[in-house]
Formats: sequence, C-alpha cells, structure tokens
Amino acid sequence: MTRRGSDQTILSVVGARPNFMKLAPLARQLAGRPGVRHVIVHTGQHYDDGMSESFIRTLQIPQPDFNLGAGSASHAQQTATIMQRFEPVCLETRPDVVLVYGDVNSTVAAALVAAKLGIRVGHVEAGLRSRDWSMPEEINRVVTDRLSDMLFTPSRDAGENLRAEGIPADRVHFVGNIMIDSLVALLPEARRRNGNGQSGAGRGPYAVVTLHRPANVDDPAALAELLSALTELSTERVILFPVHPRTRARLAALDWQPPSDRFKLLQPVPYVEMLRLIMDSEMVITDSGGLQEETSFLGIPCLTVRESTERPITCTEGTNRLVAARRDAIRTAAREAAAARRSTPSAIERWDGKTAERIAAILCSGAK
Ligand code: UD1
Repeated sequence: MTRRGSDQTILSVVGARPNFMKLAPLARQLAGRPGVRHVIVHTGQHYDDGMSESFIRTLQIPQPDFNLGAGSASHAQQTATIMQRFEPVCLETRPDVVLVYGDVNSTVAAALVAAKLGIRVGHVEAGLRSRDWSMPEEINRVVTDRLSDMLFTPSRDAGENLRAEGIPADRVHFVGNIMIDSLVALLPEARRRNGNGQSGAGRGPYAVVTLHRPANVDDPAALAELLSALTELSTERVILFPVHPRTRARLAALDWQPPSDRFKLLQPVPYVEMLRLIMDSEMVITDSGGLQEETSFLGIPCLTVRESTERPITCTEGTNRLVAARRDAIRTAAREAAAARRSTPSAIERWDGKTAERIAAILCSGAK
C-alpha cells in the first residue's frame, strides 16, 4: 500500500559480497524514478573492505542508510541478529516493498522479518534450485521464494522450478540476470585496465581459482585433495587464487603453503580487477555461483567443483561444466578446457544488461 499518491518506499537489503553486484544496477534505476524513495540496508554479514566497501565504491552504490553490523557467527546467530536488528528499521522506514537479493543468510533473514510484518517481499534472483539440501543457500532460496510476493527470475528454468512448487504464475517475473547488468556496465572499464593488476600473472596461460563452499573447504581431506589437484595444474599454467576469508582460515589451519611461485594466493580481488583477470584467463575453476554466470557471458571455460548447480543454464547454454572434487577428474576437465576452441559466446535470453530496468518498471507499475 502506498502512502502519498504514487509515492512509494522500496527498501533493499544486502549483506554479502555477491549481493552488491545485484543491487547496483537496480539502485541506479530506482534513483531515476520519480516518487520512489529507495532505502538501502547493509546487514554487515560481510564487513572486510575487500568483501564489502570495495564493491560499494566500485559499483557506485549509494552509502547504505543503515548498517546492522551483524558480522560473522553461526547460521542461527547470524540470521537471528539480522532479524532482530532489521525489524526496527522496517518499523521506522515503513517500506512498501522489501527487496532481497540472491541466497545468503541476509536474504532469508530480511524476507522473514518483512513477511511477518505484512510488508511485500520482492526476491531478485528467484527460483534457482540446486536440489542439494545440504547447501545453506538452497534452504535460503526455497524459504525466501516461499515468503516472496514478487519473484524476479534470471532464466526460464527458474520459473519452471517455481511453478513446480506451486508458486502462482502472476507472482513470477522473468526479468533476466541482474549480475550481467553490472558486468555489462563495467566491462569497458575492465577492458581499459592494463595487464592484470596486482596479481603478478605475468605472461602465459593462467587459471583463476576461487573456492569457499563449506563442502569444499571445511573438510580438511576434501580441501587437501583440491589443493593437490591445483598443484598439479600449476605445472602447466599459473594458478591465481584470490582467497575468501573462510578459505584463508582453513588453509592456515592446515598450515598449507603454495608449492611454488606459479601458485599465487591473492587477497580478495576488487570487482573490475576480477573481470579483467577472468577475461584473460585460460579457464576459471570455482565453486562460486556468480562466476559460473560471468564466465558463461564472457565465453571463458569454467570448471565448477560441485555435484550440482542451481544455474543449469550455464552448463546447457554457457561454458560451465560440473567437475567432481577429485584430482583425476579435475586434471581431465582442465585438459579438455585448455584444448577447447574458443568461439564467440552465444547470448543467453535476457542476460542483456537490462534486467534492472525490467524490475524497476514492474515495481513502479504497481504490480502485485
Ligand atoms: C556467504 C554466503 C555464500 C556466498 C558467500 C560469498 C551464506 C550462508 N553464505 O558465505 O552463499 O557465496 O558469502 O562470499 O550466507 N569473514 C571475514 N570477513 C568478512 C566476512 C566473513 O573474515 O567480511 C570470515 C569469517 O570468519 C566468517 C567466514 O568468513 O565466519 C564466513 O563468512 P559467512 O558470511 O558466514 O559465509 P561465507 O562463507 O562468506
């Protein structure tokens, strides 16, 4: 319900690194709409400069109106802290819609608070399913979608998942992939970047590696197997590994050191520098959701070290391939990726840089 004529308050909640690329293009769109007040809440789930502020700066997101300072804790504690601190913000700002992004703990926490207060919830990146209930993100995705009134999907398969779960079709809006909006906006700047920043990649082929999923890094045996696979790959190409804080802690616990200077551990890399690194890489080896999409858009081979993906379109229409977390499987897949001939990537439907525009149009049309 709106309070003054067509005026409405839209409140966005973000908290973790992958949220910022999804918020930025929509914040730009909403800033240009008359009668819209856009309030931004940062939960503080991520708080290191390299995981949060650096993205807010580069993506030119307005400084958040509220920072809940939730920080790191167990899932229950983190989710509960965000809920407790977000409820008074909702009561104070009285939003017409709360927008949540992706599948992190901040997403489900904010959706729960808003739904219980009777505020309409919009979920950006709705409908993705890995069908792996051991992933915390899958729980977050399913619960958030169930609580949402407006479900903005990145791909047709996401809409089909929602239909199969009985979500009414009039709540579902196929708008495309909003991560690609940020990529398209910053690609020219990434192209202008000279060389590979502080990565020290030098000349010759290199693979970009990111690993942070609990299934891959929390179990020392699983992590050791992956490190041994990457060590083997480093004999044929440089490995550039920007290390997530969760993974850094696990490497420290194993007292692991890179075997040679061809295996480089980096700090988390700023957004544009990461784009540049990916664009020039031979391949990306990852367990990230966003990188599966970005590599598909850019036409760079991606090996996803997971048993399933909530983004199957990146395998059927993109460059992504699921690989078992075993040394032999990674060796074979990397060999095939290195030998694969590059061609211009084919466009995925509505991954066109205009997703935020579509979402803003729906939000401002008064759609229920
Ligand atoms: C979270 C998301 C995951 C997403 C990832 C992107 C959930 C359940 N998981 O995982 O879906 O892919 O973010 O990065 O929401 N830490 C720092 N500095 C920070 C943030 C975290 O040092 O700024 C450390 C803390 O030790 C913390 C650990 O990293 O305990 C994990 O952080 P957390 O937010 O719990 O989960 P992520 O693994 O980052």
